[in-house]
Amino acid sequence: MDIKKIPVIMDVDTGIDDAVAIMLAMSSDKIDLKGITVVAGNQTLEKTLHNTLSVVEYFGRSDIPVAAGADRPLVKELYVDPATHGESGLGTAKLPQPTIKPHALDAVSFLRETLEKSEDKITLVPVAPLTNIALLLTCYPHVKEKIEKIVMMGGGAFEGNMNAVSEFNMFVDPEAAQIVFDSGVDIVMCGLDVTMKSYTTMEDILALKATDTKAGDFCAEAFGVYYDRYVSNSRLPGCAVHDAVTITYLLHPEWIKTEKANVKMDIDGAETYGQTVCDFRPDRDKTNDNALVCLDIDREKFVNLLIKACEYYK
Ligand code: RIB
Ligand code: CA
Repeated sequence: MDIKKIPVIMDVDTGIDDAVAIMLAMSSDKIDLKGITVVAGNQTLEKTLHNTLSVVEYFGRSDIPVAAGADRPLVKELYVDPATHGESGLGTAKLPQPTIKPHALDAVSFLRETLEKSEDKITLVPVAPLTNIALLLTCYPHVKEKIEKIVMMGGGAFEGNMNAVSEFNMFVDPEAAQIVFDSGVDIVMCGLDVTMKSYTTMEDILALKATDTKAGDFCAEAFGVYYDRYVSNSRLPGCAVHDAVTITYLLHPEWIKTEKANVKMDIDGAETYGQTVCDFRPDRDKTNDNALVCLDIDREKFVNLLIKACEYYK
């Protein structure tokens, strides 16, 4: 019996962990990756687009359309993160220059057209600032009926990484995030609560390398300075592969602990601008719940999934 594939469009700011998430999605026979849209975030749009094209071509999936989107947030100035992802956006990994070109349509037009033409509802997997997704939902609200759900990497119920309360993807474009959380589309929020538990230790990185595959080699190279930064800057014994948790949720939701909540974006707090305020109170008005918040993961199974994905690229 044919497995019914999950139709997916990813939205990325490639980035080291974005690249791993894309590699994981492309390795799965359960996912029909219909396209990848790109936004500025970890690095400028020029670099995140270049990196995404490089990753798709390097892993042999030049058939997957890549469309360029917003080069800056809706309101704020762009904030990039070379300290974490390097000047290139892919850390110390060196990929061949891409020969493939971006799709003729811009990201929002590509999203709109693909959603309108699809017979099935499509799951959107944004792992970046939500600028493209917010523009889509604002300009073309009718496409909401063709979105199965949004499985995002972003936010945090109980922690931040840009400050005490704000996570990078939300911090870069809080106004876009507010539009998405208030859109009425079903959301699965893979925030820092789960992604900071989704780390690869040096032992795990060596196991990825030991697959002796182009994917394992890529991870080992890209994780170089990324690992050092995480181990020196956080309490983790490894580097958080944030974005790959979204694809892991799609493939194995049973590995991830979730809780329903009402999530609101703070876009005007002096100290809390960019916070995802998650209301889990038992006596809240649950009719306002708009997200399934991910809180924990079976880390060993997560790492083994990444290793298995690398072996796909033998
Ligand atoms: O906070 C982590 C998120 O910010 C990840 O998506 C990473 O790629 C960066 O975009
Ligand atoms: Ca990202």
